[in-house]
Amino acid sequence: MTDAESSASGKLWGGRFSRPTDALVDELNASIGFDRRFARQDIAGSIAHARMLAQQGIIANDDLSEIERGLRQVWGEIQAGTHEFRLSDEDIHLSVEGRLREIIGSPAGRLHTGRSRNDQVATDFRMWSREAILMLAAGIIDTIDALLAVGDHYPEAIMPGYTHLQRAQPVLLRHHMLAYGEMLLRDLDRLQDTFRRTNQSPLGAGALAGVTYPIDREMTANLLGFDGVCQNSLDAVADRDFVIDTLSACSQISMHLSRLAEELVIWSTPEFGFIELDDAFATGSSIMPQKKNPDVAELIRGKTGRVYGHLIAMLTVNKGLPLTYNKDLQEDKEGVFDSVDTLGMILRVLPPMLRSTTFHPEVMERAAGGGFALATDIADYLVKQGMPFREAHEVVGSVVGYCAREGKDFPDLTSDEWRAFSPMLAETRPPLTPRDAIRARNVLGGTGDEVVLAARALFDDRLGTIRDWIDQKSVQIAALDALLNSE
Ligand code: ARG
Repeated sequence: MTDAESSASGKLWGGRFSRPTDALVDELNASIGFDRRFARQDIAGSIAHARMLAQQGIIANDDLSEIERGLRQVWGEIQAGTHEFRLSDEDIHLSVEGRLREIIGSPAGRLHTGRSRNDQVATDFRMWSREAILMLAAGIIDTIDALLAVGDHYPEAIMPGYTHLQRAQPVLLRHHMLAYGEMLLRDLDRLQDTFRRTNQSPLGAGALAGVTYPIDREMTANLLGFDGVCQNSLDAVADRDFVIDTLSACSQISMHLSRLAEELVIWSTPEFGFIELDDAFATGSSIMPQKKNPDVAELIRGKTGRVYGHLIAMLTVNKGLPLTYNKDLQEDKEGVFDSVDTLGMILRVLPPMLRSTTFHPEVMERAAGGGFALATDIADYLVKQGMPFREAHEVVGSVVGYCAREGKDFPDLTSDEWRAFSPMLAETRPPLTPRDAIRARNVLGGTGDEVVLAARALFDDRLGTIRDWIDQKSVQIAALDALLNSE
């Protein structure tokens, strides 16, 4: 390669150019403004690559020593904030290599043997993504812990369960919290799955076709903590499925958290009065002195929009790309950074907000008994006396219609009024409290106290398994840091 200093364009790739790049092109072309977040991965990847080149006899051991020393110095400078990220360096890969050349001189020119920025950027991005995935998984576990804590704090609390946001049947607050626990467990499953496909090494695919040197791809994959290598060189440099998987997982997580946030907004209204948010997690109005607004929950709901947006953007960027690498793919990073940052923030603020929220079980239980939320239980009561369900549904529907016209609720009805609808309803009183409704549902997956307690107990094991997985993968991918620190 032509020495950077002597090339007319001043670029590491400048050999075939006779004039410098237009300044506007530099500006458009550069990704250094954001891909500098890959600095750690990029340098570790270079150390692994250089070690492999030396082991395979492709570069000399002396050159390797210089390259390793120089790369560690570059990493030190980046950490110290003294490294200059120049627009003209285009991206993090050229920025690091350019600085390495300044530090160690000509041996730096051997680092890029048998490698391309195409496999390099894919390798960096996969290493960055796997860490993001583990970070998000830990945040989700913390959120599930907070949901469990709410349930444990109010083990008896009953609330109305809703369909169509109309009171439907009473449920335990804990059952409701565990429903979100299930959603988030599925999200953890998706993240594990995403991690598995992400943590494969593209390094060694070269520009697209593989390389002409006797490289050892397994070696670099191992050194960098990958689970394996990408099997096809063309796919290795062209594939951004791992990005889409990550954005898709982020979107579903955001969607789940947004649904929860929406409920917190509703529950905190004076009209519902189910919860009071802690002062530390609410905000006021600059004009209306009485306001206590659920801004945090609203932002969790609102930020879901941008996370979805990044998924759609990435799907769209990929849809028309011929194999293999195209510069369009440089657009793959910012959306993921934003999604991961946004979700990471949400997952830090939501658990303490949930833990500090005061629930009002009396208000919730009162609501659970009203709005004819016990109608199904009364129909079931008739069925248990021998009436076919459809008939029972009809009878109780008539009672509800009558009550609605008379402005009454079930407990207001006299025995005579009940008898008018069915003699079965006059003799023994039907179950009329939310507690009765809960007690009647000790069926697998239902809201009965015993089954909910059992479901809650299972969460400890289910989360424990995922915690172990996170610990194990964290150790595995820390191989990268060992490369940066070892001498
Ligand atoms: N900055 C580029 C990116 O983010 C790195 C790969 C560039 N490769 C190339 N052949 N121009 O995608």
